[in-house]
Amino acid sequence: MRVLLTGGAGFIGSHTAIVLIEHEHEVVILDDLSNASDEAVRRASRLAGTEIPLVVGDAGDRELVGRVLAEHRIDAVIHFAGRKAVGESVAKPLEYYRVNLGSAIATLEAMAEQGVERFVFSSSATVYERPGPLLAEDAQVGLDLENPYGRTKAIIEAIVTDASMANSALQAAVLRYFNPVGAHASGNIGEDPKGIPNNLMPFVAQVAAGVRERLRIFGDDYDTPDGTGVRDYIHVVDLAEGHVAALEALAPGVLTVNLGTGSGGSVLDVLRAFEAAVGRELPHEIVARRPGDAAISTADPTLAHERLGWRATRSLDDAVRDAWRWQRQNPRGYAD
Ligand code: UD1
Repeated sequence: MRVLLTGGAGFIGSHTAIVLIEHEHEVVILDDLSNASDEAVRRASRLAGTEIPLVVGDAGDRELVGRVLAEHRIDAVIHFAGRKAVGESVAKPLEYYRVNLGSAIATLEAMAEQGVERFVFSSSATVYERPGPLLAEDAQVGLDLENPYGRTKAIIEAIVTDASMANSALQAAVLRYFNPVGAHASGNIGEDPKGIPNNLMPFVAQVAAGVRERLRIFGDDYDTPDGTGVRDYIHVVDLAEGHVAALEALAPGVLTVNLGTGSGGSVLDVLRAFEAAVGRELPHEIVARRPGDAAISTADPTLAHERLGWRATRSLDDAVRDAWRWQRQNPRGYAD
């Protein structure tokens, strides 16, 4: 298939581009580079052994998306584009609703105009109203969430469902990511957060690289085995393979699946895995809980295995080793 990746220059999109090409698909990337680098596309092209066309522009621009769909005779869209910083979404809710809803709607409208029927959407485990262990897809989803970022994901899920009701030819997959981590095994592409990372794995990586002084562990009094928060960390290449499996399994209607491993890792597990990869102890301190954080969030990955024939095969140790290789080789991310 010829596949358009909106937001494809980002962390998950760039890894997915490579795996798609490995599976003999053709890839075009549309990205406004507001939170990504064209260097990621150049490096992904090198790793994939083919030049990936990059259109620099906004997935919220319906005419532009329509032109790209027509010019490249696109068969399917994977819609990664959107803002993703939870804290920023609380400070700038209108921007989050405009950008995230606007780009999803514009992309779906352009697809309808051009007769493109295949759509894969980057959703998030954050749409579950009551996080916990082994969340299945039928757990409660809604707008009673901790932040506007999560609500944009829940609303776009509803938009995809409504679009599918109105157009029975639409073939859609909604992928609820748990916690994407790691990097390509080459160490050439990886996560390149701007400013101070909000998320655990890039923060620990920067502590290991000496860019940040110490990790602050947000609470050790949760009802979990070691008292720190437990998450389902999924290697970004496993996640990328999940996208390819979802794309190849598309059928009329909407298939909603979790992409997670089914296993939980605590903050201390991540820290220890990093210390093992780096070969020394990393400075850390316990501080208060971060508001809005859940004790545990892990996926029941059964449906993805049944419907997509996919499951994650890489461990937390694999992800940490790869994240560390990327960080070590690129201490300043794509700026190096
Ligand atoms: C966060 C977002 C989620 C988003 C996901 C993207 C929140 C509340 N949720 O998930 O909506 O989809 O990122 O990957 O922000 N931790 C520390 N110290 C740190 C950073 C994190 O102890 O400096 C802990 C957290 O308390 C948590 C775990 O590490 O227990 C993972 O945190 P993080 O990587 O931010 O992911 P989530 O909060 O699960």
